Amino acid sequence: MLYNLVDFNDLTITEWEELCELAFDILSNPEKYSEKCKGKILAALFYEPSTRTKFSFQTAMIKLGGSVIGFSGTEEISVSKGESLKDTIKIVSNYADVTVIRHEKEGVAFAASLYSDIPVINAGDGGHLHPTQTMTDLFAIKKLKGRVTNLNIGICGDLLYGRTVHSLLKALSLYSENNFYFISTPELSVPEYFTHELKKGNTIKICNIIEECIENLDIIYMTRIQKERFASDEEYERQKSVYILDKEKLEKAKSDLTILHPLPRNDEIATEVDDDARAQYFKQAELGLYIRMALLIKLLENTSRISVATSPATVNSNKKCKNDKCVTKVETGLPNINNGIVCSYCETLL
Ligand code: NCD
Repeated sequence: MLYNLVDFNDLTITEWEELCELAFDILSNPEKYSEKCKGKILAALFYEPSTRTKFSFQTAMIKLGGSVIGFSGTEEISVSKGESLKDTIKIVSNYADVTVIRHEKEGVAFAASLYSDIPVINAGDGGHLHPTQTMTDLFAIKKLKGRVTNLNIGICGDLLYGRTVHSLLKALSLYSENNFYFISTPELSVPEYFTHELKKGNTIKICNIIEECIENLDIIYMTRIQKERFASDEEYERQKSVYILDKEKLEKAKSDLTILHPLPRNDEIATEVDDDARAQYFKQAELGLYIRMALLIKLLENTSRISVATSPATVNSNKKCKNDKCVTKVETGLPNINNGIVCSYCETLL
């Protein structure tokens, strides 16, 4: 039973398949669902900027007949007066029926789920995870390719800080027989933790340039270099604009290649590519609306709550998280939960 969506892997494959079926039905019969969440309130807590994720959740709730409260940035709310995450979440739990949260600290959504009496959806926690973008990506792959196995998938750009990449790789670990091509500079390569499970049923090839593998690919997933997560401007300057997908590079690509991007884009996909039939990133963002509608319906169907903190999967080994970006570094009073190997909040190796 799904209570929160902190990580895509909170879902079983069966629950995920059911969500996709529901999303496909909403796509073909939207009027059937126009009162499905009537009287329900979504709290959209966006401590960090967002366009697609925020607007698509807001639109999803409105299209389901519900209402939305929330904030963007912390200027106008009591966080600017020093309010803790716990207190904000406790208050919001009293007003709304479901919370969507985005925050710069890693593990915030999990921490919020410990305090919340209503379902919590992770809309991006620092450089860690972004499960509803993954739902969007997988739903788009299903719709546009008809399958999530037997694909040659290129992932290009910032594989170190890109939370959409991390979530996507964790989710794709549930599938097998895909060939992955990781295209990045050595400095921005994907953390080992996110490929551990993936390696079991799939192949991985590391590429330095797009030209090395473009002709093999069925999907290329381009990503933005995550400027806001770099320690210095100099380091960002060295990494930006290394990978640019343009018409010339696409000449060698398959005619049924699918080009995806979670957006926003900087210069990693030249605008001349937008008119190419293989460019599907705007369609991908549109599809995110339907999968988020399906998610809201499913989460609001459950009325009984459990505390994740007391689940047997989380054991306290008394080791503290070393990651400075972990929520445990800023939110006092959080239980120290880990499995002895990784921090339960941000999944950094202990
Ligand atoms: C992504 C994010 O916020 O992580 N955007 C999104 O939600 N679609 C990608 C990014 O910011 O680069």
